[in-house]
Amino acid sequence: MDTNISVKQVLQDTHSFYLQIKKAYEASDYARRYPLGIHWISNMVELLALIQRETDPDAKLRIIQETIMYSINTKDDDLKNRMVDWYIEYFKSRGVDVFGLDPSLQESSYSNPANCVVRGGRLFAPDFLRTVILALNVQRYCALPKGNFNILELGAGYGGLARTLKLFFPKATYVITDIPETLYFSATFLRLNFTEGKFLYVTEPSMLQQPLSNYDFVFVPTMFAEGLQKERFELFCNTASLGEMKNSVIRYWMDFVQNKTTVKYFYGLNRFLNTIDPVTEEARLDENCCSVSFDSWWRILQWQLDPPFARCPYLETLCSRNLEIIAERMNKEERSADSNTKRSKQLIESIEKQDWFTCPRVDNYRVCFEEKGESWPLTSTRASNDLSPDLTMNGTLFALWEAIRLNPDSHKVSMMLRYLKLLSRGTHFEEEYYYLDLLKTLTPGADAPGSFKRVPGESALLKRMVHAVTTRSMRASIKRNLERLYHGDEKSSH
Ligand SMILES: C[S@@+](CC[C@H](N)C(=O)[O-])C[C@H]1O[C@@H](n2cnc3c(N)ncnc32)[C@H](O)[C@@H]1O
Repeated sequence: MDTNISVKQVLQDTHSFYLQIKKAYEASDYARRYPLGIHWISNMVELLALIQRETDPDAKLRIIQETIMYSINTKDDDLKNRMVDWYIEYFKSRGVDVFGLDPSLQESSYSNPANCVVRGGRLFAPDFLRTVILALNVQRYCALPKGNFNILELGAGYGGLARTLKLFFPKATYVITDIPETLYFSATFLRLNFTEGKFLYVTEPSMLQQPLSNYDFVFVPTMFAEGLQKERFELFCNTASLGEMKNSVIRYWMDFVQNKTTVKYFYGLNRFLNTIDPVTEEARLDENCCSVSFDSWWRILQWQLDPPFARCPYLETLCSRNLEIIAERMNKEERSADSNTKRSKQLIESIEKQDWFTCPRVDNYRVCFEEKGESWPLTSTRASNDLSPDLTMNGTLFALWEAIRLNPDSHKVSMMLRYLKLLSRGTHFEEEYYYLDLLKTLTPGADAPGSFKRVPGESALLKRMVHAVTTRSMRASIKRNLERLYHGDEKSSH
């Protein structure tokens, strides 16, 4: 592969790569077996129009960064300055001097300049600073080798995190698997940024039979990813991506990572506990298992919902609520079903003693646990509208999630559903529907999971009603019906 190639050459190479893989994708039955999620079906119109536009590659990259498809940015001067300053303060709070990092750690000159500001002689964009935080978290929790090793990223967007991780770990071989339309952008962006790097564009499965260590970057369309199964990846990354796939596709990738290939560390930042309207967002009921599909052979190193770095109070509020998970795969010799069962039991026993579960009251100046009644939680108690649920590994949510992951049973899932009801305060989290299905699976004699969708005519009838009805009160009554079907909940608050 030539080094120091021209921008024109990059465009020609990535365009020809894209045309070949698009053709192979269309000729295969991959899209039928693993269909795109609802967002990506609609994103496709915009992506195809931009790919086909007669424009320089750097202009295409600027345009893609004006959209919210791969990241959320703003060209508003005041806002982007405030955002960058917020991230710099966040770094300081972690004891990181961002200006003391390697000078290469600044935003790419191929990123949209309208999203950037200059601080201390470095170019920064909020999205770039976010990737530095993720890279620091990887560095903190994952003992990665000093020499060459493989990183696999599924769904890398335009390649922002890939660029930052490559700057952190220059000897790594960075493999990206993605849909053809997105590989077009990540291949363009990374090739322009690493002009001296060695790039492999995989246009047919046999190209994966050579050693990956010969390359800096390898681009693999998803339909050829099975060719990666024999490889070992020290790190697998997936951010804001599995949560936008259908459940069958999420299961395929989790199986790929957990059973088909060898992965040491998992870095994930994906949707968890986002509220949905089950009428207008019915599709999300089939895209809700990305943060709950970890098997019991991971050691969880870091787990936090809404981590502090995701709480920038400006545009970040437009993003979904995400769970950061850093996990280490256990060796075969370390795996013990008995110790998982024991740990799961310990966690549940401690949660069973917590107030939200026991609902203690005060009677005759004494704490009492009997006659729970409907009055819990009492006003003027911390339990009433808890303003600070612990969303870290020390909290109840993690303990329930972990107890279910290690050894699921219907009691633990029922406890999770009860706790989610407390947190959601009358709205519904998309994972509630996942847990309800899991409860049915774990309860002997219960209806089949997702059975409300399979009742003949029922789903179609509900859909027709939704289309026909526009008034709020009627929509509320449809929601009540859905809730009754799914929750068996007669006195739903909607
Ligand atoms: C919102 S972008 C996130 C990009 C980047 N990871 C980030 O955090 O900014 C979602 C990514 O998932 C990819 N993606 C969506 N559906 C996919 C599917 N069914 N198979 C593989 N990748 C998919 C998209 O192409 C894109 O790269």
